[in-house]
Amino acid sequence: MSQPKPDTRKVTTHRLQEMKQSGQKIAALTAYDATMAELLDEAGVDLLLVGDSVAMVMQGLDTTVTVSMETMLYHATLVRRGVQRALVVGDLPFMSYQVNPDEALRNAGRMVKEAGVEAVKLEGGGGVAKTLRRIVDVGIPVMGHLGLTPQSIHKFGTYQVRARDPEEAETLRKDAERLEKAGAFAIVLEKVPHALAAQVARERDVPIIGIGAGPECDGQILVSHDMLGLYTRFKPRFVRRYGNIAAHMSEAFGRYVEDVRGGSFPSIKESYE
Ligand code: KIV
Repeated sequence: MSQPKPDTRKVTTHRLQEMKQSGQKIAALTAYDATMAELLDEAGVDLLLVGDSVAMVMQGLDTTVTVSMETMLYHATLVRRGVQRALVVGDLPFMSYQVNPDEALRNAGRMVKEAGVEAVKLEGGGGVAKTLRRIVDVGIPVMGHLGLTPQSIHKFGTYQVRARDPEEAETLRKDAERLEKAGAFAIVLEKVPHALAAQVARERDVPIIGIGAGPECDGQILVSHDMLGLYTRFKPRFVRRYGNIAAHMSEAFGRYVEDVRGGSFPSIKESYE
């Protein structure tokens, strides 16, 4: 029997909407550079997020709060170069969209014009709806982000599961509705109880992309460095590791050091006449 042909059509926000309607799950991951983005794209990942998690997995910081607009633009530019099929979404960093809708629009515009991304993401509920609407109105698709929103870590004080209590769960459901009404094309739901995420996914027309939000979301996203086993400082329960890349790299680096010190690298074959 012949294998079904891989879907090579360019992913658009419209296509993600169709996937939700037809019950086809959306596979999303983060990317921060062209080499990795190319591999992710070739593997068929539908949506690549240039996440502000770059602060933690590449810059060695403890939170995402301090990453700058310039850093995000730089990484988004690299990712864009490696991608042909996936939808590329650039994260708007903390304080690039909170001051007022005009500044938010300017920064979203920079992401699209300077880095070439096709959409942006911002964190928050009803409080960012007006800003989201302003960006969408000029033609830039926006993805929302609810639940555990890491840019608010200093307010939360912990990375624990959000919306376990009924009041916060109700607020989250209303926030999802507000973001959808404001024009969000999708919403990331991070670290919330799976039953709540399932309810939000049923209630909303736009795709709900879960991270630590259970199996009934319309799609899933993980930080690539987490699922590869490349970032190993901590591992939340929701991360499934598909590789042990940090161990492979350490082993390779160790063997290289041994070979150089022992004089077996380079050999004559690896040299020029
Ligand atoms: O920055 C990021 O990587 C994210 C994902 C965890 C959704 O926002």
